[in-house]
Amino acid sequence: MPVDLKNPLSWKNATGDADTMLQNLQANILKGHIREHLHILLLQFGQGAEGTAEARAFLTGLAPLVKPAKTQLQEVKAFKENGPEDVSDVPYVGVGLTFAGYNQLELADRAPSDEAFRRGMRDDATREKLGDPEVAQWEAGFQEAIHAVVLVGGAETGPVEAKLQEIEGLLTGSIRVLGRETGRGMHNENGDGIEHFGYVDGRSQPLFLTEDLEEERRRTDGVSVWDPAQPLERVLVADPAAPDPATDFGSYFVLRKLEQNVLAFKQAEEALADVLKLENNDRERAGAMLVGRFEDGTPLTLQAMPGAHSPVMNNFNYASDGAADKCPYQAHIRKTNPRGSGGFESPEDERVHLMARRGQTYGERSEGDLPETGVGLLFMAFNSDIENQFEFTQHQWANSPRFPKRAEGESAPGLDQVIGQGDRPPATWPRVWGEVEGQEVPAMAQAVTMKGGEYFFMPSLSFLRSL
Ligand code: HEM
Repeated sequence: MPVDLKNPLSWKNATGDADTMLQNLQANILKGHIREHLHILLLQFGQGAEGTAEARAFLTGLAPLVKPAKTQLQEVKAFKENGPEDVSDVPYVGVGLTFAGYNQLELADRAPSDEAFRRGMRDDATREKLGDPEVAQWEAGFQEAIHAVVLVGGAETGPVEAKLQEIEGLLTGSIRVLGRETGRGMHNENGDGIEHFGYVDGRSQPLFLTEDLEEERRRTDGVSVWDPAQPLERVLVADPAAPDPATDFGSYFVLRKLEQNVLAFKQAEEALADVLKLENNDRERAGAMLVGRFEDGTPLTLQAMPGAHSPVMNNFNYASDGAADKCPYQAHIRKTNPRGSGGFESPEDERVHLMARRGQTYGERSEGDLPETGVGLLFMAFNSDIENQFEFTQHQWANSPRFPKRAEGESAPGLDQVIGQGDRPPATWPRVWGEVEGQEVPAMAQAVTMKGGEYFFMPSLSFLRSL
């Protein structure tokens, strides 16, 4: 039976082609793998026939280290049933190739077909579309043609470092390391993962496995209002260069290094609270209006105060907040997932743009420190259609002052206050939570700067073995 891409998958009941698919698919795609400690290597293969041979040898040597999705899922199950003692802490290793990488492998004719992937992130058309800075302003590791990316991540630093060394041992001959990135998980007092501005991150995800949906139903606030289920086709793509595209799948991987100016963001929160004359506990609402959730993850559309964080809620939409007088349209999470309030004809027309986010924070900071540079988010996401998912979200939603479309006479929402790139017009904010009357305020400065990135395809293990 062919793999059913139109629905979520029960991995525990998978047989035949679906089971083979899970054995050949890389981990971290269908479900986030633990990556508290994360290393990313950006690689360039050597030129000519020798470069090609060395690149192929590297990838076949790497194949046994790359973790299959099925292994990851079995490990998670063992952890849940028996606790940490029973689980080998084998780090996640993942690998992706750019279109230039396929070219150097002499496989351009069998490379995945996504147009954005083929263009790449350094391409002028891509940069213009996304509002990204000139490549000359990117960090050095992203400025040259990247051919491959290798990710090594896990719970403990020891095994991750050892695995990284093992992989470095395979980097022989003409393969160059253009850049290295290091991610490190950050947590709040509740143990939830946060990003550098201090907000819980990574909570709202499309779920592709029926087991994960079941857990969402049982262990969280549920799925009755916001259904996180997505079909496999939203993340999986038949791997055209693999031996059997019926069972060999991969996914497009978007990587963006996004620097966060923490001082500027914290000042913007204060400035918004001042201008709206928010007082005492209500001042925290200023930041929540920029993000759409309070720092502890409480959705702003549900309540005017933090506190709903155990577990962080995700079963909400904006149906009772049509005028955006609780959570503004320009809040980051409302821009990037309007949850039915984006003005689309059918809910599905809107939902197709969502993607699986797998980001991790980078950069060291000491307590109380509000850095302006050197820290940020290694934004990572899996897509089955880059143009329709990541690019659409950044370009048509985050960067567009007129999304969501308002009735004539009503003011445009403005840019996504966290990630919007481009000229930032003033935006209107509710002074009182739930009261329609809003106040127009000059835009805050952009506190997130793109420092480089690329589009990759994370191929099937069977492809790597076949080289
Ligand atoms: C430094 C940059 C970024 C920061 C600080 C940031 C922060 C956050 C936070 C705090 C959340 C709420 C947690 C959650 O609901 O999971 C969130 C959600 C989200 N972010 Fe970002 N983000 C960044 C970049 C991006 C980018 C580049 C995109 C896509 C273009 C994006 C798309 C989303 C989406 C789709 C959600 C989930 C919204 C929902 O389903 O309600 N983010 N982000």
